[in-house]
Amino acid sequence: MRSPETTAWHPASWQSKPAQQQPKYADPAHLERVVAQLSRLPPIVVSWEVEALRERLAAAQRGQAFLLQGGDCAETFADCESDQIAKKLKILLQMSLVLLHGLKKPIIRVGRMAGQYAKPRSADTETRNGVTLPSYRGDLVNRPEFTPEARAADPELLLRGYERAALTLNFVRALIDGGFADLHHPEYWDLGFVHHSPFKDQYQRIASSIADALDFFEGISGQQVHEATRVDFYASHEGLHLLYEQAQTRFIERRQRWYNLSTHMPWIGMRTAQLDGAHVEYFRGIANPIAVKIGTAMDAGWLQGLVTTLNPHNQPGRLTLIHRYGAKEIERALPRAIEAVRETGQTVLWVCDPMHGNTETSTGGLKTRRFENILKELDLAFRIHAEMGSYLGGVHIELTGEDVTECTGGARGLSDADLQRAYRSTVDPRLNYEQALELALLIADRASKNRRSAA
Ligand code: PEP
Ligand code: CO
Repeated sequence: MRSPETTAWHPASWQSKPAQQQPKYADPAHLERVVAQLSRLPPIVVSWEVEALRERLAAAQRGQAFLLQGGDCAETFADCESDQIAKKLKILLQMSLVLLHGLKKPIIRVGRMAGQYAKPRSADTETRNGVTLPSYRGDLVNRPEFTPEARAADPELLLRGYERAALTLNFVRALIDGGFADLHHPEYWDLGFVHHSPFKDQYQRIASSIADALDFFEGISGQQVHEATRVDFYASHEGLHLLYEQAQTRFIERRQRWYNLSTHMPWIGMRTAQLDGAHVEYFRGIANPIAVKIGTAMDAGWLQGLVTTLNPHNQPGRLTLIHRYGAKEIERALPRAIEAVRETGQTVLWVCDPMHGNTETSTGGLKTRRFENILKELDLAFRIHAEMGSYLGGVHIELTGEDVTECTGGARGLSDADLQRAYRSTVDPRLNYEQALELALLIADRASKNRRSAA
């Protein structure tokens, strides 16, 4: 296997490798101008935040924390507005509160947010009524309407995406700094829906029990527990569009390392994780904590190659493996993956994405996921890791703070016929706010039961 130390890395070294899923631009000079412009703009995040997240992920890897990573399959420019961002932040905060209560561990909150604008596609083109056009690859690349103009890859969108990522994170930071995420005040995160949700009472009991616990602790210690109650929030996106990622890669003199400062935690998608491919080449050289999505097509050698290439020094918190096998395959695939990684002698953070292996087409032709399959995969993931003496240290979820109907099932029993009512995703189906909260409640509930039966 190639030894990373012997091959020179630089932010553009990926360009000599085969790069999957990259758009084709008609005007290379225009693209070059845009990339040069992007390289001069200030970063969206800074290296000390990136390092702080890596340390927190290292704690999760040791079983001392739990990662909640979630957000849209693809953010859109149109949805970059205050109400939608606040709602997404609220549902993630509510879920994290429920998980904190059930798991009794600090929750690391990472949004699929502020830069999740580029999508891998299974085909380069799409044909409708005999007309073939390039596939929609996310707002960073082109536009979803089915016209030649909309589907042409437009370099200017890289700048528009960068700006929206910065606007989104700026707003999230302001909300959090202003006390919006303070655990003393979970009422700030009220989504309104809680009042008519079947989970109203359960959620409110948890929120007030945490507020009471804080009051109690502060009462007996005479101290405010600011450190513990002012939550942090990090950003992540799939590092798919390599010119965009390269333009945001900066050398930090003080640390003598390269960082991707477009986000805290970029990940490699399953379709671009080839060992000799451009994405693995780019990711191996950046200092951020990174993740890779892993699926059934990856055999032991491939997984081991990823682990040793991407984290040659076995640095804690550096590498997260997000498995997304599907409820049907996980029992076969996960034990092998755990064994394969064990053989390398390295440690990773294991996270379950119960969404991407459970996508199916509904009777009406829409892409959907069944809540029961999502829950089943998660249940199996917790069980398999526990049985093998491994630790499932997080979940990766596609969700929205809106009342959409994209996934079926859940307490309201959404059916295939309900999907038409509020199906808004241009890509994968997301859990709506109520399904997302229900999922967190079920995870928390099972964790409490397991703790009690182990005690
Ligand atoms: C995604 O996270 O939206 C995605 C495309 O996932 P995967 O790479 O796991 O297919
Ligand atoms: Co998706």
